[in-house]
Amino acid sequence: MKFAGKVVVVTGAARGLGQEYARQFARRGASVVVSDVRDCAETLGVIESEGARGLAIKTDVTDSQSTMEMARAAAEQFGGIDVLINNAALYGSLKFAPFDQLDESEWDATMNVNVKGIWQCCKAVLPSMKDRGAGSIVNISSLAATYGMPNGLHYTASKAAVIGLTRGLARELGRFKIRVNAVAPNVVNTEATAEVFGDKRERILDVTLSQQSIRTPLEAGDIVGAVLYLSSDHSRLTTGQTIMVDGGTVFL
Ligand SMILES: NC(=O)c1ccc[n+]([C@@H]2O[C@H](COP(=O)([O-])OP(=O)(O)OC[C@H]3O[C@@H](n4cnc5c(N)ncnc54)[C@H](O)[C@@H]3O)[C@@H](O)[C@H]2O)c1
Repeated sequence: MKFAGKVVVVTGAARGLGQEYARQFARRGASVVVSDVRDCAETLGVIESEGARGLAIKTDVTDSQSTMEMARAAAEQFGGIDVLINNAALYGSLKFAPFDQLDESEWDATMNVNVKGIWQCCKAVLPSMKDRGAGSIVNISSLAATYGMPNGLHYTASKAAVIGLTRGLARELGRFKIRVNAVAPNVVNTEATAEVFGDKRERILDVTLSQQSIRTPLEAGDIVGAVLYLSSDHSRLTTGQTIMVDGGTVFL
């Protein structure tokens, strides 16, 4: 899949999976805009080392002014936006606990970033995609949405909302030839996963693996194929769908 001449925006791209998506789009010739509340300088270096053009912009996805500025900067620098990867989320920093012990402010923050943040970013890129006469939005959900992650009701509910949001938006935006799909990964060995599971990581990874039909641990590169496919014209009549990349744990 080639993305030469395409402009791709990846949110939450300072590290982890977002950084990997940025690398892979850059490798395939896209101009890549990377945004995060964290500094994206490292990811910008990754893009440039692939010989692609990049732009790093500090963005808080929950703030409409900030997301509008992200879209404005992308369009000004590269002339428009073709693809948006809504990857930013509260995951690594979350505290997981039985549902009746979850912190209320953390519940609100999770919904704010993981759900409202996607809505804000979609609104921000819409004018540019409409101008282009087409576009592809890929929302990052999680296996948690369909499996039901124990002790993570806030995260589970937010990622299930991402699937509903994807379907509703696909229905609304089809007439503009803007497609909206989701990718739902199983546990991937990232920095954030190490933060989430702490010293229980090995045990949880073992349990996760035991439920996969294909018992191979997921690495960041394993998620890339689905994201690239849904971003490319190869999926031009696919919209409103969620692709599980989970080694065959849950079948939609
Ligand atoms: N790693 C996994 O096992 C796994 C599994 C399923 C789904 N996911 C999803 O994949 C995505 C990336 O996961 P990761 O492991 O790289 O996690 P991560 O925590 O490293 O990445 C999330 C990024 O989002 C950024 N972010 C948080 N709040 C933000 C805000 N308000 N505005 C902008 N950026 C913000 C963070 O700074 C971080 O860089 C997330 O959506 C996560 O829920 C991850």
